Amino acid sequence: MAEPARAFVTGFPIRHSRSPLIHGFWLKAYGLEGSYEAIETAPEAFPAFLFSLRDKFYAGGNVTIPHKETAFALCERHDSAAEAIGAVNTLWFEHDRLHGGNTDAYGFAANLDEYAKDWDDTDTALVLGAGGASRAIVHALKSRGIGHIHIANRTLARARDVADHFGSGVSAHDWSEAQNFVAASGVIINTTPLGMEGHGGRELALDLSKADPETIVTDIVYVPLETPFLRLAGDAGLKTVDGLGMLLHQAVPGFEHWFGVRPNVTQELRAHILADM
Ligand code: ATR
Repeated sequence: MAEPARAFVTGFPIRHSRSPLIHGFWLKAYGLEGSYEAIETAPEAFPAFLFSLRDKFYAGGNVTIPHKETAFALCERHDSAAEAIGAVNTLWFEHDRLHGGNTDAYGFAANLDEYAKDWDDTDTALVLGAGGASRAIVHALKSRGIGHIHIANRTLARARDVADHFGSGVSAHDWSEAQNFVAASGVIINTTPLGMEGHGGRELALDLSKADPETIVTDIVYVPLETPFLRLAGDAGLKTVDGLGMLLHQAVPGFEHWFGVRPNVTQELRAHILADM
């Protein structure tokens, strides 16, 4: 009989990862015998860790900060999202080759599909921040056909890097210009850690009073669930979607790869994760 499948999440540090809670919940809910463990790997040890997976009989796993770009460089095959984003967060073996995918863009879009149907029915988006998460989100926005994507970032050069990477339809702006794109944007996304618990109490200041009433505002920060930015948006009468669903949905494709069941993102799962926050 085949051994139960084993999967992991690795990062540095890793203790804050909620992925073990998510996959542990699904393993139990679907009555599966597999396992999912958190493994801390320092950057210098990461390549050796990756090359040892086959010998350790892992079915695959997740990689998180700071290993996503290194994982991209070291995988034998990539899915189209990883290719477009240049980073890998999900690993699996296929025909004995190590495949790397990126499910962050999928998770982002699936969360909005669930809570803000027709969110992509706009041609303009404003993305705040230009880090790794921003790249995944710009890819999702482009994939959904949003033709004008404005990235505003504290460090303009990083916004330019992202805009150059994605090409036509994506433009880079200084943080101070973000305000200019509020009125035209059907969707506004915070991809920075501003408003995150433990991040020094700095909040995102944007005047949303000129936004179209149909505008959807979302945040990748999910601790707290209602960030100061989402509260601002709610007070302005805009539709808000919290970031927890992105975390939950991005886990779906990996679980299916390793354990052979496509799991559902349910209210029970949400409650399970929220109980730990
Ligand atoms: P991730 O991979 O999670 O996106 P990251 O690559 O460190 O993380 O990117 C964090 C983003 O948040 C960046 O856009 C960063 O701005 P800079 O490029 O100028 O560093 C932004 N950010 C972090 N702290 C910020 C702050 N206090 N004010 C404004 N932007 C901030």
